[in-house]
Amino acid sequence: MAINPENYREDFPVLQEESDGKQIVYFDNAATTHTPEQVLERIEKFYREENSNEGRSLHKLANKATVAYENARATVADFVGAEKDEIIFTRNTTESINIVAEGLDLDGKIAVPKMSHHSEQLPWRRKAEEEGLELEFLPTHEGKLDMEDAREIIDEDTALVSVTHISNVFGCRNPIEELAEIAHENGAYIFVDGAQSVPRIPVDVKKMDIDFLGFSGHKMCGPTGTGAVYGKKELLEDMDPLLVGGGMIETVEEDEVKYGEVPDKFEAGTPNIAGAIGLAKAAEYLESIGLADIDQHERKLNKMMIEGLKEISGVEIHAPEDEIPSVVSFTMEEAHPHDVAEVLNTEAVAVRAGHHCAQPQHQELDLAGTVRASPYFYNTEEEVEEFLQAVKKVKKVF
Ligand SMILES: Cc1ncc(COP(=O)(O)O)c(C=O)c1O
Repeated sequence: MAINPENYREDFPVLQEESDGKQIVYFDNAATTHTPEQVLERIEKFYREENSNEGRSLHKLANKATVAYENARATVADFVGAEKDEIIFTRNTTESINIVAEGLDLDGKIAVPKMSHHSEQLPWRRKAEEEGLELEFLPTHEGKLDMEDAREIIDEDTALVSVTHISNVFGCRNPIEELAEIAHENGAYIFVDGAQSVPRIPVDVKKMDIDFLGFSGHKMCGPTGTGAVYGKKELLEDMDPLLVGGGMIETVEEDEVKYGEVPDKFEAGTPNIAGAIGLAKAAEYLESIGLADIDQHERKLNKMMIEGLKEISGVEIHAPEDEIPSVVSFTMEEAHPHDVAEVLNTEAVAVRAGHHCAQPQHQELDLAGTVRASPYFYNTEEEVEEFLQAVKKVKKVF
């Protein structure tokens, strides 16, 4: 069903405020999305009515906190088609990937996309370096993962394939089910970086048959400092935790420590209880709108944006030709990406410019950076028009 963004805009306090007399056109959602009243209210309710530590004390308030925290885990698990015990709360996608990279025993090659975000790429690069494992890049062809090359690179010596689900640079979607099949046929695990996909398309870990998935709360209307990692239970059981400390043990004796069960084993110390509850509320909020409809709306805006940008001379779009991307990255002949973003900012249009934490990919394309516009379900067609007018102003300035 087509989304009417006006039905949701009033949920977002930031979208009501004017910046220097102009209503901000917020097209930086791939970096961070805004937080609706429903999530803000849920977090406030926790602090006002349920605040206590979770999983420790036995008093009434502690019980409320524990129930709310564990219900949040169940909601987040449901959101990505996982079982409750297969979800570990984290601070963000970056931590999610580090937990798996540090904890998973690998004996073989690691394959990582060239297009991957540094947060996906660096934990695997460090693991390869520290453990003497070979790391191979999966190349990009015309803004997409090159599947022919991927099929050649992933072989029986591969132990793990890490894949960006939706690229934060090209906005393309990589064929996860196919990659999962190739990885598993070769006896390798597959980790999916869902930072950009979980907020905007339906994601089901069981349907995709993946081993791990990481995502962030702040990119899906949830609070900053929240995220999760999904892992198949039997794999999580075999992994060592990244952090050790309170709340993750079964017994600690002078000469022996036994870790607790999954997922507790991975959540040392007091977790971000309010944040996890806020993240679950954000998942419910997105669910109530419908992920397939969110995707459809975003792609409608992105199509409009691409058509408009193509009309402006000197603009080059960096996206696959045969797909409407989830983010729109472009460069302009006349100006450096940072200068483009600066002028857009004076027009109250918020975008991101730079290498978007994907420097190797930009280097390969010989690009100093790109400008990235990333609308979400609360953005409107009128805002796309304003954005296009602002880009035309950039041309006049330079
Ligand atoms: C594809 C992708 N992976 C990972 C990350 C890292 O997310 P976070 O900073 O929330 O850990 C991002 C953030 O932009 C991203 O776009």
